[in-house]
Amino acid sequence: MKRYLNFPLVKGEASRQAHADLPEGTYEREMSKEGFFGPAAFFYHRNPPTGWIDFDGPLAPRAFDLTQINEAPNSLWSAPVVLHNKATEIRLWRLAEAMPSLDRNGDGDQILFVHRGAGDFFCDFGHLAIGQGDYVVIPRGTMWRIVPTEPMQILAVEATNSSYTLPDKGLLGPHAIFDPAVMDTPEIDDAFRAQQGDLETRVAVKKRGQVSWMTYPFNPLDAVGWHGELSVARLNVRDIRPIMSHRYHVPPSAHTTFLADRFVICTFAPRPFETDPKALKVPFFHNNDDYDEVLFYHDGDFFSRDNIHPGMMTLHPTGFTHGPHPKALTRMFEQPKAMTDEYAVMIDTRDPLEIGEAASAVEWTGYKDSWKAKS
Ligand SMILES: [Fe+2]
Repeated sequence: MKRYLNFPLVKGEASRQAHADLPEGTYEREMSKEGFFGPAAFFYHRNPPTGWIDFDGPLAPRAFDLTQINEAPNSLWSAPVVLHNKATEIRLWRLAEAMPSLDRNGDGDQILFVHRGAGDFFCDFGHLAIGQGDYVVIPRGTMWRIVPTEPMQILAVEATNSSYTLPDKGLLGPHAIFDPAVMDTPEIDDAFRAQQGDLETRVAVKKRGQVSWMTYPFNPLDAVGWHGELSVARLNVRDIRPIMSHRYHVPPSAHTTFLADRFVICTFAPRPFETDPKALKVPFFHNNDDYDEVLFYHDGDFFSRDNIHPGMMTLHPTGFTHGPHPKALTRMFEQPKAMTDEYAVMIDTRDPLEIGEAASAVEWTGYKDSWKAKS
């Protein structure tokens, strides 16, 4: 069993409670192991830790405006990869018309996050209506297709060679944040039966990153029923009831929604601001030295970020110090309004991410300078 050099110390002028009671005029920065779960140190700086006047080299943070991706392929496997590593593959997929064939992922479980639009999802397990704000969790090997009822924009996150699981809710109990009973699963219904028949159907199977085609003289989504505990499942972000503390800015890890072997998916949903006058109201500065952090902005007003709009994605590489933008920093102990009004999907990966061509093409190169105070 590993044991960290792990004992609490207090040096100089410091708060003894993270994210609250900061020495007058200081800025708190957290340095920690294992995301926000391991040993940590909290520094009280005289200047904002993001106050650099120049930043050069590959560690710089990146931002991509995925709304500018215009390709609209009719298979997920042709959708552009925006970020990837050995543990995940993240794509932005615009789907305008009914898929003419089925997709199947042999490389790992798949999550489709519906950023915009709606449609009917048909799969081995039946039929499920899907729409904006839905996470659709698809077990590896499932055959599926989507018939949009409105043009769709989907953020697809693959758990390469892994499975999606739910986090342990610990002291909060299993029904906190979201009750697993709010998740929906496909039905063997009239819509599902109506799409069955002897229509020649092709299946695009992705395995080891390559696509193979299987052709059937019938639609293989032809189950008359099934039983078991494995299924496609849908969770809508509006069914998430985030935890908060009126006296403590809880870390992003408290918003974990799904786990894979080498990354986590968290959801930021609207929640009240802290009310204790000495508690931080904005995310604290931190390095996150063990995880690359990806944030996909789904909906709302992103109070801690200037110049960010829905459909954008940011990447904060491991070790890059970040925190609130200058506008939010001026009110780190104020309540700008009663509630945050933002939905965002965070993907924190244990291994560094590579940037795909599609993302490079829509990069906002000014992002690394966005912490500079406006004159
Ligand atoms: Fe972060």
